[in-house]
Amino acid sequence: MSTELNRFSKTLTQEVTNPAAQAMLYGIGLKEEDFSKPQIGIASTGYEGNPCNMHLNGLSVYVKQGVTANEMVGLIFNTIGVSDGMTNGNDGMRYSLPSRDIIADSIETVVSAQWYDGVIAVVGCDKNMPGAVMAMARIDRPAIMVYGGTIRSGHYKGQKLDIVSAFEALGKKFANNISDEDFKGVIQNSIPGQGACGGMYTANTMAASIEAMGMSLPFSSSYPATHEGKQEECKKIGAAMKKLLELNITPKEIITKKSLENALTVVMALGGSTNAALHFLAIARSAGLWLTLDDIQAISDRTPFIADLKPSGKYYMEDILEIGGVPAITKYLYSKGLIHGDCITVTGKTVAENLAEAPDLNFDTQKMVFPLEQAIKSSGHIQIMYGNLTPTGAVAKITGKEGMTFDGEAKVCEHESEIITMLSKGEIKEGHVVVIRNAGPKGGPGMSEMLKPTSAVMGAGLGDKIALITDGRFSGGTHGFVVGHITPEAFDGGPIALVKDGDRISIDANTRQLTLHISDEEMAARKAAWIQPAPKFTKGMLGRYIRTVKSAAEGCVTDEA
Ligand code: FES
Repeated sequence: MSTELNRFSKTLTQEVTNPAAQAMLYGIGLKEEDFSKPQIGIASTGYEGNPCNMHLNGLSVYVKQGVTANEMVGLIFNTIGVSDGMTNGNDGMRYSLPSRDIIADSIETVVSAQWYDGVIAVVGCDKNMPGAVMAMARIDRPAIMVYGGTIRSGHYKGQKLDIVSAFEALGKKFANNISDEDFKGVIQNSIPGQGACGGMYTANTMAASIEAMGMSLPFSSSYPATHEGKQEECKKIGAAMKKLLELNITPKEIITKKSLENALTVVMALGGSTNAALHFLAIARSAGLWLTLDDIQAISDRTPFIADLKPSGKYYMEDILEIGGVPAITKYLYSKGLIHGDCITVTGKTVAENLAEAPDLNFDTQKMVFPLEQAIKSSGHIQIMYGNLTPTGAVAKITGKEGMTFDGEAKVCEHESEIITMLSKGEIKEGHVVVIRNAGPKGGPGMSEMLKPTSAVMGAGLGDKIALITDGRFSGGTHGFVVGHITPEAFDGGPIALVKDGDRISIDANTRQLTLHISDEEMAARKAAWIQPAPKFTKGMLGRYIRTVKSAAEGCVTDEA
């Protein structure tokens, strides 16, 4: 074994000045011959309490087998995760985005402290993927991300279901559009087992785009959690890692401005989650790159939205494998000049070389992905908005299905839970622009996702009749006329803090303007009268988060001064 491959771990295993570390390595069962092998940290976000993560510790065992079979030492460790689908309104959801940075911090900490030569992360729920890749970029040692895979769809009375079906059932219940039996039936059958939420929501968006960026093996995002291909991928990872070590290809060589563009192109083509904007801003910064909201807009401008996937479309991620998976879609985009082919990937090959082995999309036999000429929308669905309500930018999801403009009367919710109450009382009406504020990274804290409000709105049949704007986030499961990530956030005195019930607000996706129709003088007077609220937390993780988190326009990173 070349000592080149164990260039970090040899500090512990070879140097005579580290007897305690060597004693401990014997203690965990290493043999003499293992001391010259590279050590690979296998980071699992597995835990029993979330379908997205419940199988990841099992997959990690397969990864370890592949690492061991390739003459390396694999050492599994765990990091945390929280289930976005199980948080209870703002109270639980405020921990979700911070969990991304805890995952990044903990992988960085273990791999660095333990002198691992490389890292393989086995990840599932929304924040796991960006968290793992942020850590990989920070550490910059050979690294591969393995996605735990999408869930299979549930079934009830002939209908296919997923997590959003359960949320929308609540809206139907408010509107008396569902029986008690069916309400229960939907809840009992939406989630049939392991895997991440099944539409092109945040987890599948991040898995597909990170694969396109080159940090996962081809098809990692396409194999459902229960597909035999997922286990096979895990067993193959050891050989891939060995090759990466031999070639000494590190994440900062893979994560470049061009590969970030590839990732975001796939997000736009697939109609992926607005959260991708936030996460790729953060991943870029972890790799020492400067990506801006305007860069994201430029990619959206040139990328047609072509996939008929949930939340706005018909199909699930599990269906994608049948048409050739994400590699087939990326190959098609590459053939149209939308993907950079010369970026290096974790296979040791370029994007173009990987795609040469991918299947072709067949537009005669499949109707999930359309040719560019028949795109659902000729540009991307993610639009960066500016205007006097969001001077430093916001992120909107505009598929075109809901129209391109909205003009209405403000209805202000100081907390996302208020909208549920208002809906149940019939106070939210057609034409309202519902403003959910104090949900930003500092004000929430944690920049909650509005999954419950948006799904409830949909279920109540108001999805195309109202607009929602917030300094919080929207789940990848969201559809409808929504603008999130409004910056500056209300906690920092952004204009969203100054909106009053009855104000006129317009959203124009053509000009990308979000406008509060009050005079500059009135805006200034309201700002002068505004008093910053006390932080909701001063201690503990959330207290620290409020003190360290950057604006959503800067990816909500927490590791910068
Ligand atoms: Fe984990 Fe949706 S709750 S991916």
